[in-house]
Amino acid sequence: MKIMVVGGGGREHAIIKKLKENSEVEVIYALPGNGGIASDAVCVNIGAKEIDKIVEFATENKIDFAVVAPDDPLVLGAVDALEARKIKCFGPRANAAIIEGSKVFSKNLMKKYGIPTATYEVFSNVADALEYLKDAPIPTVIKADGLALGKGVVIAMTRDEAYDAVKSIMEDKVFGNSGNNIVIEEFLTGPEVSVLSFTDGKTMVPMVSSMDHKRALDGDMGLNTGGMGTVAPNPYYTKSIADECMEKIFLPTMNAMNAEGRTFKGCLYFGLMLTPNGPKVIEYNCRFGDPETQVVLPLLDSDLLAIMQAVADERLSEVEVKFSEDSACCVIGASQGYPGKYESGNEITVNGDIDGQLYIAGAKTVDGKLVNAGGRVLGLTARAADLQSAVNKAYAEIEKVSFSNMYYRHDIGKRALEALK
Ligand code: AMP
Ligand code: GLY
Repeated sequence: MKIMVVGGGGREHAIIKKLKENSEVEVIYALPGNGGIASDAVCVNIGAKEIDKIVEFATENKIDFAVVAPDDPLVLGAVDALEARKIKCFGPRANAAIIEGSKVFSKNLMKKYGIPTATYEVFSNVADALEYLKDAPIPTVIKADGLALGKGVVIAMTRDEAYDAVKSIMEDKVFGNSGNNIVIEEFLTGPEVSVLSFTDGKTMVPMVSSMDHKRALDGDMGLNTGGMGTVAPNPYYTKSIADECMEKIFLPTMNAMNAEGRTFKGCLYFGLMLTPNGPKVIEYNCRFGDPETQVVLPLLDSDLLAIMQAVADERLSEVEVKFSEDSACCVIGASQGYPGKYESGNEITVNGDIDGQLYIAGAKTVDGKLVNAGGRVLGLTARAADLQSAVNKAYAEIEKVSFSNMYYRHDIGKRALEALK
């Protein structure tokens, strides 16, 4: 089979490595992929948002199955365009990807169908938003409606910060048209859990839970990033909480999307907060999380391609989706300065064999050498029988990988291990 994976980060590298375990896979094309992915797939220089070129490539190369991984092409309708050419895909159509593409849509969906989430108000003009904020409880949370590279959320700890956030999103348009509308919502507290779930619109099969570490520095200090490391499973996510989420959140979301004529097929990501009043949805994503995928897929003992095909054919209930009882830890190696300015072009070296998976996120090949070309450069995932061993192993193994000005957090999994005690 000829497979095409759209995207080019660590998440896509993890998906590609897992897909390759199926012996029917002859070739995987990555659009655009990256210098590290090139060891596992044929990289094609087409960007993830170039929908017309993606479709043309898939048609010309007689792709049997396509996986569209990032949010942008999903929201832009890549799956719709590929399906129109009779190419089977894993990923939601645009009318379902809106669950991530518009926060106003997802909040209104949750309100309409009684799915637990932070209370909120929607605003389309600055004056109304500022007026509302005069007496709103502080801290408060301000979210740009549209996609904003994962940066469209401001947690305002003071009223002035809230006013500033509204002005910069709606007036200065720091997130472009994504900020034409905003959501102002209640500030929630509690441990966060990421749950990725396969769904074909009929069946919902949650994957092993995970915990992201979004801040750049140890102790959850520093700026928000795309994610500096992950562990799975997430110890806060007990069996009884999982059952409650299935009943009150996962199935109601699947049914709500069906009722709206927007059947969701693909990987639905539930960003949850376990509040004192029960689990609530912080955000939906219409795709695999990054770097959650880098700990979840290594624990999948079943065939990923078979599951993805079953989702596309709406027969998910017929395939086995089995996760190991093991734990996994992924430590992200980033370029010093990220998420701000950083230096690129430094050679990445690997010293010895790695007992685990090295996923490359931001790198390219220059003169035969792999060099860093992004903020988040790589992820080292280790798997072991328990979380402490997985964490220890990930940190031992990442020592073998280096590039000039690499940094990583030293406390990935620390909170999870404390919760286990
Ligand atoms: P997002 O970009 O939607 O993933 O949000 C980034 C982070 O902001 C989340 O991971 C949470 O830690 C935090 N966050 C979002 N919404 C809320 C909320 N209503 N209350 C507290 N924290 C929130
Ligand atoms: N790790 C969070 C995300 O993928 O959005």
